[in-house]
Amino acid sequence: MAARMDVLLGAQWGDEGKGKVVDVIAPRYEVIARFQGGPNAGHTLLFEGHKHVLHTIPSGVFRQGTVNLVGNGVVVDPVIFLKEVRSLEACGVNVRDCLLISRRAHLILPTHRALDAASEADKGKQKIGSTLKGIGPTYMDKTGRNGLRVGDLFQADLHDRISALKRKHERLLSLYDAPGSTIEADAEWLDAVEQLKRFRVVDCEHYLDEALRAGKRVLAEGAQGTLLDIDFGTYPFVTSSNTICAGACTGLGIAPNRIGSITGIFKAYCTRVGSGPFPTELDDATGEAIRQAGHEFGSTTGRARRCGWLDLPALRYAVMINGITELAMMKADVLNGMATLRVCTHYRVNGSLTDRMPYDVSSGIEPVYRDMPGWVSSNASGRLPAELDQYITMIEEAVGVPISIVSLGPDRAETIMRETASVR
Ligand code: GDP
Ligand code: IMO
Ligand code: MG
Repeated sequence: MAARMDVLLGAQWGDEGKGKVVDVIAPRYEVIARFQGGPNAGHTLLFEGHKHVLHTIPSGVFRQGTVNLVGNGVVVDPVIFLKEVRSLEACGVNVRDCLLISRRAHLILPTHRALDAASEADKGKQKIGSTLKGIGPTYMDKTGRNGLRVGDLFQADLHDRISALKRKHERLLSLYDAPGSTIEADAEWLDAVEQLKRFRVVDCEHYLDEALRAGKRVLAEGAQGTLLDIDFGTYPFVTSSNTICAGACTGLGIAPNRIGSITGIFKAYCTRVGSGPFPTELDDATGEAIRQAGHEFGSTTGRARRCGWLDLPALRYAVMINGITELAMMKADVLNGMATLRVCTHYRVNGSLTDRMPYDVSSGIEPVYRDMPGWVSSNASGRLPAELDQYITMIEEAVGVPISIVSLGPDRAETIMRETASVR
């Protein structure tokens, strides 16, 4: 019987722990497919004392027998991709055998990165806080119908097309009064492109159709998070792709009625990296304590992540927009030892209480908190402390979806699978 494709995605502002959960559940699947984003993502995996950070390659790559697919919705920087491949090969992973790339995926050029930097510099204080990996300009070229795709690498006019796109970028850069990319960067990029051509390139929509018809289990891995979605995130402080569940359909060529379970990943608190509104942000010693305990520094850029309390209206919004069927709560261990935890249950907007995410989250919005008792310690081998159980139940009731995974540390092993039938 034909199988359905499960989806796993971020329910907050990214960095929820998607890499860890995909790695933990990958043995249940035969195919893991990334559906959007690019090397702005940094997905961390930890096992056997080693930490690995993936940017473009799906997080099933360490699980033998799993096929890892880079979908058409992803934007690929050949240079970063190649570095990632080499570091995986150095760890003994035979990437070439287990990796497929969609020929419809778009390519990031060095000039896309230069445009990203010029655009951010031009915005000044209003900058997005982009990772500067060229993501926005590459998706702009995709929707502007100028982009270069992996499949184009095999066409005879490739070099003419690269030159034409580069010339267009140089004209745009001159409007910003910013210099173009250097010749050296081009040489490295062109070399990486030649290497990329040696990987297995597929029509991912047909590949996945056949896999599902053959009853294979497929998991779609999201990047970033719901509140960074181009349509439903805190625009304009968002990324340039659809990070939500619908993005798994367009980013892989899967019809909506073939989606199975949808797992939303969230931290027991909130973080955000880069600019933009963050209603529950803690600009104080508590925020700093969470940052230190959770090592909240970006996996891609090393920037300090902003920290704050859990935001239930935002989580409920993510459940609604994505059709989340189950949740994974990450990093509860980071809150160990805090006497009282605060959870935002509502916002006060212009004097009125609401539990909805408003259009404008940037000003005039005040979080309303409920205090919860904290727990002293937690670990994945013992029973959960009663206060943590209470915290979990409170969230499940507030958002109407069961929490099926609780993560209590960065390692694969520090994960609890919960029986959740009663909440459904
Ligand atoms: P992703 O982008 O969603 O894959 O998340 P990142 O890898 O960028 O950030 C999550 C960080 O939290 C990584 O450093 C993980 O190793 C770490 N992490 C994941 N789960 C847990 C957990 O339950 N507890 C702790 N303390 N760290 C975790
Ligand atoms: P993962 O997959 C957290 C943020 C940037 C910036 C905004 C736009 O690891 O969860 P971009 O580079 O896309 O132009 O940046 O989005 N951002 C992320 N924040 N995790 C990510 O990915 C992110 N990818 C982009 O900080 O605010
Ligand atoms: Mg990350």
